[in-house]
Amino acid sequence: MLLGVNIDHIAVLREARKVNDPDLLEAAFLVSPLCDQITIHVREDCRHANENDLENILKYCKCIVNLECSLDMIEYALKYKPSRVTLVPEKRQELTTEGGLNLNNEKLQEAILKLKQAQIETSLFIDPNLKDIEKSKELNADYIELHTGFYANIYNALYTNINHTSYAISNLLLEKNDLKTLLDEELLRLKESAKFAKQLGLKVAAGHGLNYQNIKNIVNILEIEELNIGQSIVAKSIFIGLKEAILQMKALMQR
Ligand code: PXP
Repeated sequence: MLLGVNIDHIAVLREARKVNDPDLLEAAFLVSPLCDQITIHVREDCRHANENDLENILKYCKCIVNLECSLDMIEYALKYKPSRVTLVPEKRQELTTEGGLNLNNEKLQEAILKLKQAQIETSLFIDPNLKDIEKSKELNADYIELHTGFYANIYNALYTNINHTSYAISNLLLEKNDLKTLLDEELLRLKESAKFAKQLGLKVAAGHGLNYQNIKNIVNILEIEELNIGQSIVAKSIFIGLKEAILQMKALMQR
């Protein structure tokens, strides 16, 4: 199973002071030999990683780069030519990517065509449902990335103390048994989606909210060949260092 390390959260720390510390390029040098690709999200407002980071990483690091961006950032992608572009929805006010892409967007077909012509692989970040997978195939994407955010939130509500903190999610303040049912249903959706996508010939990635605890159910879905993980690895690195945090995650991904 392949690991893409999402380094945006290192940029979040840098942007807290707006000095080049920690240096994202230095992070890319450290991270890239330890994983299979660097995943970086350049948002329209560049509030974490920015165009300059993308340019430097591609120029000096020579690693495989999976650029996450919205449809409105396609021109950047075509300019810098990362190995892959993962198209994600984007809202200015959100803390992080909240849901999968709306595939009924006229601009998608043309964007995917342009990326293909530039020999950039395309991935669509979608919610785990069969309709969106069928549509992704129709749109000629190479990959789908299944949004695991809902699964991760239920897992947290069930197995951590989050429901007793100010970070609780109001519609997940449920009885244990109800949360268990929700978790099983969401896992089933992820499994069926991965299976269906693979049958259609799509490559399957997954990501969002995955951590050292909730990853085990996702690793057991054999059709998922790649995970993109950021926040939990960077959070863990505060205590044990980035290298060890990546190695521990990789160990959990062994099948
Ligand atoms: N995959 C995609 C498409 C994302 O948008 C993100 C968040 O930027 C991730 C994976 C990584 O999510 P997390 O930081 O929660 O591990």
